[in-house]
Amino acid sequence: MSSASPLFLLPLFLSSFLAISYQSSPPHAKQQPQDSTTMLPSELETLFTIMGTMSDNKPWRISHPNPCNSGSSWPGIECKFGKDNHFHVTRLDFGTPPNPTCKPTSTFPSEVFTLPYLQSVFFYNCFTHSPTSLSMPASPVSPVEQLSLRANPALTGPIPAQLSSLKSLQVLTLSQNRLSGQIPPGVFGLIKLVHLDLSYNTLSGAIPSQVGNVKNLLGLDLSYNSLSGVIPNSIGQLGLLQKLDLSSNLLVGGIPNSIEKLNSLNFIALSNNRLKGSFPEGLTKLVNLQYFIMDDNPMFMPLPSDFGTLVKLQELRLANSGYSGSIPSSISQLLNLTTLSLENNRLTGKIPAEFSSLSHIYHLNLSRNFLEGVVPFSASFLRRLGRNLDLSGNPGLCLDPKEAHGLGTEINACGDHKSYSFAQPTKRSQAPCMLSSLSAYVARETSRRFMLVCA
Ligand SMILES: *[C@@H]1O[C@H](CO)[C@@H](O)[C@H](O)[C@H]1NC(C)=O
Ligand SMILES: *[C@@H]1O[C@H](CO)[C@@H](O)[C@H](O)[C@H]1NC(C)=O
Repeated sequence: MSSASPLFLLPLFLSSFLAISYQSSPPHAKQQPQDSTTMLPSELETLFTIMGTMSDNKPWRISHPNPCNSGSSWPGIECKFGKDNHFHVTRLDFGTPPNPTCKPTSTFPSEVFTLPYLQSVFFYNCFTHSPTSLSMPASPVSPVEQLSLRANPALTGPIPAQLSSLKSLQVLTLSQNRLSGQIPPGVFGLIKLVHLDLSYNTLSGAIPSQVGNVKNLLGLDLSYNSLSGVIPNSIGQLGLLQKLDLSSNLLVGGIPNSIEKLNSLNFIALSNNRLKGSFPEGLTKLVNLQYFIMDDNPMFMPLPSDFGTLVKLQELRLANSGYSGSIPSSISQLLNLTTLSLENNRLTGKIPAEFSSLSHIYHLNLSRNFLEGVVPFSASFLRRLGRNLDLSGNPGLCLDPKEAHGLGTEINACGDHKSYSFAQPTKRSQAPCMLSSLSAYVARETSRRFMLVCA
């Protein structure tokens, strides 16, 4: 595991996309159903069973005998009035206030897959104490489009193969549980999927080559598991993919050449794997990339200059990976770059003078390399980055004393062989904090993993 959490910002498109398409509630009944309208007895009974499995032992049957009726509906459920003059449950949402919280002994109710009109399931922080598995009927027929089971530490066992029967699924989020075993290849037969997140489990085995079949996928997150083997070449078939996160697994080999076909990709994270080998030449075709996050891999090769062509890059992270040679000056063409992490490699030579033209940069870490010569930054550049500039651990670097006056660094002053100790700044960098513009969705999704550097 990486010691430092990477800072990154999820692309904004994803949040707005999900907010519009998937977080919105199904419309409420247009006709005005009478209060005497009831649910079908079998559906009502299933709902009572689910409520009993999940929620606090309140007398729901007595207090809310008609859980869909206006005025007496349960929190955490949504219903639609059907053509058959009955109410039907379309959404179950447990665990996030104001929805019902789950009782400590709650277990996964496989009955959700028998509710004939259910479209969305959200169970967050529900299965916490009693070990339970993601059980499903043998061949479920369910119209569910969004299944989100997040942060359930007692949800264990495999991802069931029957999940591939949920043909209407568009969003599948099984993040932060204790799911284990291999990813069933059938999951990639769910061709309507646009978002697949299996991150933060203990899934193992290879990424199935069938991954290339889910052609509508915009976001694929398999990070923080124990997936091994190579990144399948078929991943290049996901032509709409915008976000790919495979970080913190046990993946080996190189980045497949097919990656060049992912020309919608704007975020890729491959940190903390065992990847090595050269970068594919076609990497330069990924012109929409804004985030390239690939720390902690045993690359042990010269740092390629190709990144200079990816002009939309905002974050480039290539730390702890054994890169050698000099820092390509082409990186200074990345005028929108805000974060550059090259720390703990074997980089030699000078810091490219052109770096001082990186007007958006607010986090630059070149520490623990073998860089040498005069630091080419002006006093105002140094002041702007403040503590977010880290050049420490490069014994051959020195600072022009004029530029460095009053700045806190651990760099020697040029021409002075004793260590030069400057006062520490009292304030952190005044660099603007990009996170303020992020939506609540992204903030929620990212807060569990990423810390803010701009405090
Ligand atoms: C850099 O960022 C600005 C502002 O977000 C944007 O308008 C511009 O298109 C970006 N430049 C590139 C090359 O992506
Ligand atoms: C730079 O990287 C080093 C690891 O080599 C880390 O300890 C340090 O906190 C980083 N500095 C900044 C400013 O992020």
